[in-house]
Amino acid sequence: MREDSLLSPTIEDDEEISLRPKRLEDFVGQGKVKNRLRISLEAAVKEGRALDHVLFSGPPGLGKTTLAGIIAGEKGVALRVTSGPALDRPGDLAAIISNLQPQDVFFIDEIHRLPRAVEEVLYPAMEDFQLDVVLGKGPTAQSIRIDLPRFTLVGATTRKGKVTAPLRDRFGIEEKLDYYEPEELAVIVRRSASIIDVPIDDTAAELVAQRSRQTPRIANRLLARVRDYAVARASGSIDLATATEALKIYEVDHLGLDKVDRSILEAVIERFGGGPVGLSTLAIAVGEEPETVEDAYEPFLLQSGLIKRTPRGRVATANAYRHLGVEPPADSQGTLL
Ligand SMILES: Nc1ncnc2c1ncn2[C@@H]1O[C@H](COP(=O)(O)OP(=O)(O)OP(=O)(O)O)[C@@H](O)[C@H]1O
Ligand SMILES: [Mg+2]
Repeated sequence: MREDSLLSPTIEDDEEISLRPKRLEDFVGQGKVKNRLRISLEAAVKEGRALDHVLFSGPPGLGKTTLAGIIAGEKGVALRVTSGPALDRPGDLAAIISNLQPQDVFFIDEIHRLPRAVEEVLYPAMEDFQLDVVLGKGPTAQSIRIDLPRFTLVGATTRKGKVTAPLRDRFGIEEKLDYYEPEELAVIVRRSASIIDVPIDDTAAELVAQRSRQTPRIANRLLARVRDYAVARASGSIDLATATEALKIYEVDHLGLDKVDRSILEAVIERFGGGPVGLSTLAIAVGEEPETVEDAYEPFLLQSGLIKRTPRGRVATANAYRHLGVEPPADSQGTLL
């Protein structure tokens, strides 16, 4: 495996956890989603019942896990966290949900990766708050039904298309998180800077925000690295010059692309003649898992108009050529930035 990218979406560290907003009012951006959640939360609190099940979808690092925590916090209930791939057998799921307290939030990350057998146990649990447990094996096996407390399932997925229809249908609330505006990210950067206790200029905060691939997690990661540079090699506070120099050292370019993003573009352009190239071939070329390329890197490259998806594979746009300082071929796709 290649070294982890600076911006790898899979690492969770203590700093990231401490930067998570705990209340809805501290969660920046996603105004419409927040408004709808606030209404449903208020209604649930007023009537003293569990919130309906919620499904969050969207690219990594936009705040799905954070919102699950906020829902529990706003309701004043416990949050139980697990993930699709961690729930190997139906028994694993049964052990967790039979221990929930009324109205608790049960969070399943990467819910599209839930094994089928586990998913089937989840259906009656979500719908009727009942758990069917099979005791014993073979002809003497007995099925018993256990009543569960009314809980809230919060599911998160980077791949809504991979959540099965019967599972999706059982969520009362479905919200898709979008990429953030630079102004929103600047607010997040300033908020995070004050939590990690580093002074930052507005212009420096705006620069970090612009380079964050429209993603709060990346904004926080970049801020942490810029802070390192400011502490180790400068005055300890972050001004525009310090931020600019630090981002250069960490090889984050003016679009916010990191080494892995650029190696994807370079591979499509230099090794596959601009494409089309299939996802798995491309993933091998850059030394990443196909799923990582598709879920973590591609969405932003698509969103920025640097690559396109065609039925025959991924294609670099004229913008991608220009971004790498290469003259685009006459027939290349894409528009001027
Ligand atoms: N709206 C926001 N306001 C402030 N900070 C945010 C916001 N959204 C996300 N963050 C910050 O970004 C980090 C990543 O968010 P989070 O872990 O919730 O993303 P995610 O959508 O669950 O990502 P993944 O799909 O990789 O699990 C959090 O530590 C949090 O500090
Ligand atoms: Mg998450």
